[in-house]
Amino acid sequence: MADRKSLLDSDLTTRRSPRLSFNTKFVCFILLSVGLLGFQGFNILNAQTQARLSVQATTSLARCLSLSAKPGPSPSFHKRTESDRFAVGTKALLLKNAKVWTGEKNGTEVIEADILLDKGLIKGIGHVRAKTLAAYQDIEVVDVKGAWVTPGIVDLHSHLGDASSPATDGASGDDNSIKGPIQPWLRSLDGLNTHDDSYLLSISGGVTTSLVLPGSANAIGGQGFTIKLRQTAERSPSSMLLEPPHQINSSFLELTENPPWRQMKHACGENPSRVYGQTRMDTIWQFREAYNKAREIKHEQDQYCARVLNGEPDVLNSPYPEDLQWEALVDVLRGRVKVQIHCYETVDLDDIVRLSNEFQFPIAAFHHAHEAYLVPDVLKSAYAEAGLKVVMKSDHPVLDSRYLLYEAQQAYLYGLPENLALAAVTTTPAGIMGMDHRVGYIKEGWDADLVVWDSHPLALGATPKQVYIDGIPQLRTPHNVAKSHAFQELPRVPNFDQEAKDAVKYEGLPPLKATTTASPIVVFTNVGSVFTRLNEGIEESFRGAKTEFGVVVVENGAITCSGSATTCSSVSYLKDLQVIDLKGGSIAPGLVTFGAPLGLEEIQGEGSTHDGAVLDPFEGKIPSIVGGDKALIRAVDGLQYGGRDTLYAYRAGVTTGIVAPTHYGFYGGLSTSFSTGALHKLAEGAVLQEVTALHVSVRHFGSPSVSSQIGALRRLLLDPDHRSDAGKWFRGVSEGRLTLAVEADSADIIATLILLKKEVEAKFHSDVQLTIIGGLEAHLVAKELAAAHVGVLQVPSRPFPAVWEKRRILPGLPLSEKSSVLQLLAHNVTVGVGIQEAWSARNTRFDVGWIAVDAGGQLSRVDALALGSTNVAKLLGQRVQDYALDDMVVTEGGDLLDFSSKVVAIVSPRRGLVDLL
Ligand SMILES: *[C@@H]1O[C@H](CO)[C@@H](O)[C@H](O)[C@H]1NC(C)=O
Ligand SMILES: *[C@@H]1O[C@H](CO)[C@@H](O)[C@H](O)[C@H]1NC(C)=O
Ligand SMILES: *[C@@H]1O[C@H](CO)[C@@H](O)[C@H](O)[C@H]1NC(C)=O
Repeated sequence: MADRKSLLDSDLTTRRSPRLSFNTKFVCFILLSVGLLGFQGFNILNAQTQARLSVQATTSLARCLSLSAKPGPSPSFHKRTESDRFAVGTKALLLKNAKVWTGEKNGTEVIEADILLDKGLIKGIGHVRAKTLAAYQDIEVVDVKGAWVTPGIVDLHSHLGDASSPATDGASGDDNSIKGPIQPWLRSLDGLNTHDDSYLLSISGGVTTSLVLPGSANAIGGQGFTIKLRQTAERSPSSMLLEPPHQINSSFLELTENPPWRQMKHACGENPSRVYGQTRMDTIWQFREAYNKAREIKHEQDQYCARVLNGEPDVLNSPYPEDLQWEALVDVLRGRVKVQIHCYETVDLDDIVRLSNEFQFPIAAFHHAHEAYLVPDVLKSAYAEAGLKVVMKSDHPVLDSRYLLYEAQQAYLYGLPENLALAAVTTTPAGIMGMDHRVGYIKEGWDADLVVWDSHPLALGATPKQVYIDGIPQLRTPHNVAKSHAFQELPRVPNFDQEAKDAVKYEGLPPLKATTTASPIVVFTNVGSVFTRLNEGIEESFRGAKTEFGVVVVENGAITCSGSATTCSSVSYLKDLQVIDLKGGSIAPGLVTFGAPLGLEEIQGEGSTHDGAVLDPFEGKIPSIVGGDKALIRAVDGLQYGGRDTLYAYRAGVTTGIVAPTHYGFYGGLSTSFSTGALHKLAEGAVLQEVTALHVSVRHFGSPSVSSQIGALRRLLLDPDHRSDAGKWFRGVSEGRLTLAVEADSADIIATLILLKKEVEAKFHSDVQLTIIGGLEAHLVAKELAAAHVGVLQVPSRPFPAVWEKRRILPGLPLSEKSSVLQLLAHNVTVGVGIQEAWSARNTRFDVGWIAVDAGGQLSRVDALALGSTNVAKLLGQRVQDYALDDMVVTEGGDLLDFSSKVVAIVSPRRGLVDLL
């Protein structure tokens, strides 16, 4: 603790007020009061002073003294020898032979070094001397054998613990209050559930620190708190906090120096509008009214304290102006709070920048900020804002923070320099939350939070081999696969400069329509591999050697020759051909997507762009105009073409969409298959198969009960009504002519469905084609699924225990040896993977590429491709006899499954053309 003299000096020198004329007597008075207030050990208070100060006066004086306190670490912070979070009993640890990305030098420093961890801190990096080591009686030495080591991942925006998983009946979780749009007094800490399954899952993806923010239902949602994700001996939410603000124990600030940073959540635009049935104009007025209130209180405080500190101690006889509801917002105006603002559109960014200038408070970060790239100058004009930095955050559980690093990988893929991509999930967020004096770097004296990776952290599928928080290893028995040398290098990525330029030029809406080649003959040269459909599967029909890549000739959309350059030499005599160099690229069957309303909605958040949800007979009477309960709705009737998500999917090699009618209850309807590249329904091949499968969902909806849903399904299958439309389709299922796709995750529901299938088969002497959609717990009955010939279309490809019926996931590396997909494959279950949101169709190639990476060479390219293409089609009963007409995807620089390639063309035999992208 600072001695009395220096305490006073720093207090004097840091105070900015121009009227700093203290008389000596008053200086002593302050000194004594400070001693009385909180600095234990200073008990020598003379009776005269004690008598002079009432409790109220003492408190008020403390408030005045705290006004000039600047947040952040104390000057002595870096002299610490032990972390305040050190867990007694944690052994010292030496990580040998690490390739360390330190975060320093703008994220460009990489050193080969040993790292010494002790007392919750990084004690040394480099060659640790024998003498230093000898001083440790009990030190663990781990040779990481050249593995990449980075600081732990820092998530700037999470609802971990507050919106916990599995979600319980308070469905929206504990992260939003709907008691009013302005609530700076709420604290995310108060809802922090220590039983969230995500802590360990996110740690297993390398996340060590998260800023837990209130949700975005409110304009001012309340105060955020930074946590470290590890379990503590105390098991309490409070013990997880990293540098909690002083105010968690005390209503008002009583420190005179270095209070920890506070965090505040704001949100603008559609979220508060939706929740409160209001407009942007209302929301911004609510902000201004609140900030005006805070400004008034601040002004009163400043005036009060100016008088006190100017030698009018009698002022202390009247109470210090303060208000518990507004103190946090007043602190924002004092520059002691990191304001984290959820905004999407330019109008919102502009509104908030004006607010910050009107009330003069700094903005820590705009979150989401979808249009920020279009208006950098607006952001630069915010109060006290300088350079712009980029952070990737999760919004967990909206995006599973276990895979936050994947966001940085994609940013790198699309052009963010590698140093900034890694900084975007480590050093940059640490700085923005005011914690970079201890997390976000691998630096001597910083917290011992780090991740040992099984590959270069920007390589697809990079997985922690171990994660340390406060020097404590977090993975009890980490599972890993051996990865080749290539994975240890920074991945080579294609160039997307033109796409980036176009995004700005066209204000986020660049034209996405493909251009058909002018020439009917296209020759692809330097082809690394060709995969083609074979019956229901895929085969590798050509693989070139590095020294001799192949050639593929396409005439009117059909491959007429493929093989080595000599095989197809006759082509050079043809005229008017277009030659495209694939630089070792590949040609493969188009991917198939299912699971999201792709093709039935344009903008997820905008209902006016949706086909809408079908009515459920369980919920109410179906209007007779569509046939009452006997109706079965067809997705094909609602298809919309040329949507942006659909065209982006096409450009990423997803040429077929299969979509079921949107439904939120039991009853689904008939799915359809369509071409993502078609611009309208009447175009050639736009509808690939009008009806693919019959869809229902069996879930824990509450009402109707699971048993009622199974009861309904049993009746529909065992006793289909011949005369009705629905009856005919259900009869088709019972007789094995149509696939029944049941959305279900619970292993118990899946088991019940297997039994029901047998019941129906016994009555109809048939083979019922049953596919489970979702299937996150299917791995528990993998053997039984295989025996019953039931396939699984797992959605999403990387599981997350969002709700109770999905809680028993098989998480995959590093928490389990196998992922659920690999476990199902090991039992010979037919498996495909799907998506939940339409925008993510474009990432299908990485979803399946990642599964291949996790399999560590146990899954062939062909089998991996099938997971995202032929298996999906097969599981949904798509006809396969026309496979020769299916679109093929052409990539440059590598094959479809990794970061090195770019989709450059689609070959379409059905349409007789080649589309250039
Ligand atoms: C940090 O790195 C980025 C990208 O490599 C570069 O554009 C920027 O100028 C660097 N900043 C500094 C301060 O060196
Ligand atoms: C709050 O009080 C507890 C119990 O005295 C103490 O352990 C903790 O450090 C205090 N936290 C802050 C931020 O003052
Ligand atoms: C899966 O199929 C393969 C090849 O047909 C067979 O060798 C293997 O034993 C099967 N696995 C199981 C668990 O049935």
